[in-house]
Amino acid sequence: MNEIQKNISLQEYNTMNLAVFCSKYLEIENENEFINHLESITNNEDILFLGGGSNILFTKDFEGLVVKNNIKGKDTIRETDEWVELKVGSGEVWHDLVMYCVRRNWGGLENLSLIPGTVGAAPIQNIGAYGVEVKDVLTQVEAIEMETGKKLLFDNKACDFGYRDSVFKRELKGKVFITSITLRLTKTNHNTNINYGAIQKVIQLDYNNVISIENISNAVISIRQSKLPDPRQIGNCGSFFKNPIISASLFESLKNDFPTLPSYPVIGNSSIKIPAGWLIEQCGWKGKTIDKRYGVHQQQALVLVNYGKSTGSEIKTLAMDIQKSVFDKFKVEIIPEVNII
Ligand code: EPU
Repeated sequence: MNEIQKNISLQEYNTMNLAVFCSKYLEIENENEFINHLESITNNEDILFLGGGSNILFTKDFEGLVVKNNIKGKDTIRETDEWVELKVGSGEVWHDLVMYCVRRNWGGLENLSLIPGTVGAAPIQNIGAYGVEVKDVLTQVEAIEMETGKKLLFDNKACDFGYRDSVFKRELKGKVFITSITLRLTKTNHNTNINYGAIQKVIQLDYNNVISIENISNAVISIRQSKLPDPRQIGNCGSFFKNPIISASLFESLKNDFPTLPSYPVIGNSSIKIPAGWLIEQCGWKGKTIDKRYGVHQQQALVLVNYGKSTGSEIKTLAMDIQKSVFDKFKVEIIPEVNII
């Protein structure tokens, strides 16, 4: 069984590549190990569960216990000719899971290729890309209640998913530790989604218009690689802000003043989602670099980057400056998607 270690560098555990330390650190390999350590874990005032570290901005050293999740496993728990139900350990790397499914021609995750992070983090913020969210295929989340050590099961409805949102991010924040998720994936009659224009284009040009799980996955990978920086080369957390959802009336007045403003309908109500990347670019931030150390990505204004040697608090200040200039110009508040701690 792993033991708690002291003063550990978190640089390789956060994709922003920030040189920060935590006072205590514990790696968890399986569910039992978590339960055995539960008392010593909950004894700490500050606890941080870390998956791939891809959605976190450390503004200082973490004075508390970091629990790094290494719970692995991919098990087929039910299967018919049409679908398969796969239970996956929360410490698995998300993209490895996607590749595992694409290789078997199991449909459902292909649009979510190359998203950094771990499986356990996926339901917390309902990861999504290119018209698909994890909520579309997720059937169950298994978790341990911190206070009691009891195992809890959440079906899709109980997760109360929203855009980059779930019950785990709100009411249950810090109260449960996710150990596995279960997904239902198609084996035939795939419910593919190529509504996103760029995917259609790549499928047409590079894959002879053949729509398959593998081709969609490859198309997504090439689109992401062309727009989003690889965290192994340039520190980043993907989209730093959420796309704001605004009222139809505010949208109308903005569209009057800025006719090229893109928009997406929000299913289920009359609000409109507008791209924060567009707003940020209009304020002149795209590609801006500060002191050659950090800044706003050249190809995607929604992504803040650390070219090395910058600090989380500098990046936070940059994010706040961006937020303010977007508000001043458009009267729209953009809210970080990333956890700032
Ligand atoms: N845009 C700009 N300038 C920019 C960036 C975007 O004008 O610098 C415009 C684009 O031209 C397009 C619109 O904004 O009209 C949307 O851009 P894009 O398709 O690149 O997607 P996004 O809304 O910026 C969201 C997700 C991404 C996801 C993509 C694709 C959020 C916060 N982000 O970005 O998710 O990959 O859609 O589905 O919802 C992430 O969460 O880390 C992430 C990368």
